[in-house]
Amino acid sequence: MKASIPFAFALQFLLCLAIASPSPTILRSLLSSRSESSPNPISSIYPNNITGTINSTLTVVPIPYTLARSIIPAEYGILTKAYHSLLREFPSDSYPLVIRGALDHGVGLYAFNFSLADFQSIHILYPFVDLLGDGYSSFTYNKYLLISNGSQAIAGANASGSIVPPAIFQPDLEAYAFAPSSTDEIFLSAYTNLSTTQPAVTTAFKLLKQVGPWPVSFFKNVTNQPIFTDGLSCDNQITLFNTSLSIGKNAPVGIRGKISIMAPYFPEEDCEAFDDVYGIKVDIAFIENTGMNCSDLKGWHATGSGD
Ligand SMILES: *[C@@H]1O[C@H](CO)[C@@H](O)[C@H](O)[C@H]1NC(C)=O
Ligand SMILES: *[C@@H]1O[C@H](CO)[C@@H](O)[C@H](O)[C@H]1NC(C)=O
Ligand SMILES: *[C@@H]1O[C@H](CO)[C@@H](O)[C@H](O)[C@H]1NC(C)=O
Ligand SMILES: *[C@@H]1O[C@H](CO)[C@@H](O)[C@H](O)[C@H]1NC(C)=O
Ligand SMILES: *[C@@H]1O[C@H](CO)[C@@H](O)[C@H](O)[C@H]1NC(C)=O
Ligand SMILES: *[C@@H]1O[C@H](CO)[C@@H](O)[C@H](O)[C@H]1NC(C)=O
Ligand SMILES: *[C@@H]1O[C@H](CO)[C@@H](O)[C@H](O)[C@H]1NC(C)=O
Ligand SMILES: *[C@@H]1O[C@H](CO)[C@@H](O)[C@H](O)[C@H]1NC(C)=O
Ligand SMILES: *[C@@H]1O[C@H](CO)[C@@H](O)[C@H](O)[C@H]1NC(C)=O
Repeated sequence: MKASIPFAFALQFLLCLAIASPSPTILRSLLSSRSESSPNPISSIYPNNITGTINSTLTVVPIPYTLARSIIPAEYGILTKAYHSLLREFPSDSYPLVIRGALDHGVGLYAFNFSLADFQSIHILYPFVDLLGDGYSSFTYNKYLLISNGSQAIAGANASGSIVPPAIFQPDLEAYAFAPSSTDEIFLSAYTNLSTTQPAVTTAFKLLKQVGPWPVSFFKNVTNQPIFTDGLSCDNQITLFNTSLSIGKNAPVGIRGKISIMAPYFPEEDCEAFDDVYGIKVDIAFIENTGMNCSDLKGWHATGSGD
């Protein structure tokens, strides 16, 4: 990944610019036709728990294993067999970085009449980390989490040790928007205090006719891994792929496209561009148990339909 010659470096930079989002003028017209994510279908089923919906794109970015090893804290192992068992034909020397661009909608603790205003986020996720050193419990390491500027969610993520750059998203308050005059190209970009002109993260995908090569079960597995940063507490977001949000006409759709991430959110180069990444777009209902003792989540895994 490390560009060794100036030309490669320049190319990288151009790629990053090339996948920057449409101009603000075009965006304003897009925003007037804003759609809304569907309501939380499980709020009354689990009124005493935090529940919500997360409408998102999820993609696998194959990066060199050695690079992942240098980013994930050295004291934790990486469960390579676990991800190879879920990703057939994944290159043996690669590691699956997962990028998620999302809109959280209808999040609340309903018995207490508490709800959180909708917010957007970009997750840069390092799954399959052996946090407990038991050789089988997969956790996801998350260092940077970009969240909508002003959201109450920033304080929560910050409390678990994540670095939470407040971000401005385009489109605003949507999981993604369709590119101008397109019915099958979607994008989401995030600006932070790094630059007002170049997005810190861009995602741009084309919708595919089918999901692949990475199966939905892989994304179900990853989105159910407890997330940690400092290892002192874990966030256990339990994602349900079997509600009305994720089945039938809302079933996961395959996507293929490009992602760029500025340093330091991805620690290589000024801006790293990843071409030809595959994943899914899907809206998911979730139950969230925050501030958990990570040890108590030993062996935790997702069960039920969709496995
Ligand atoms: C997810 O978000 C997209 C973009 O805003 C929207 O078009 C879609 O309807 C949402 N999905 C659901 C199930 O609400
Ligand atoms: C709901 O919260 C309770 C108490 O925090 C917890 O014991 C229970 O496991 C949670 N329910 C689910 C489905 O996660
Ligand atoms: C819940 O909160 C809303 C808005 O703050 C309020 O109008 C409503 O009366 C509350 N409901 C209950 C049961 O407390
Ligand atoms: C996040 O936590 C750090 C200390 O851990 C603190 O300095 C900072 O102000 C916090 N930021 C927010 C937005 O809560
Ligand atoms: C930008 O935000 C980060 C937190 O994400 C902070 O550490 C840094 O100091 C900020 N930089 C500037 C120039 O404000
Ligand atoms: C976030 O909001 C604060 C206060 O309104 C502002 O000073 C800051 O520049 C904003 N950050 C970004 C990335 O726009
Ligand atoms: C977490 O639980 C384990 C035992 O299950 C205990 O040894 C440890 O002290 C707890 N950690 C915290 C931070 O409470
Ligand atoms: C993810 O898949 C691995 C390998 O099959 C399994 O050991 C683990 O329990 C799964 N994790 C979750 C959260 O479902
Ligand atoms: C959905 O799956 C969860 C476990 O993943 C299960 O507890 C729940 O009963 C299922 N709901 C439906 C409607 O099948």
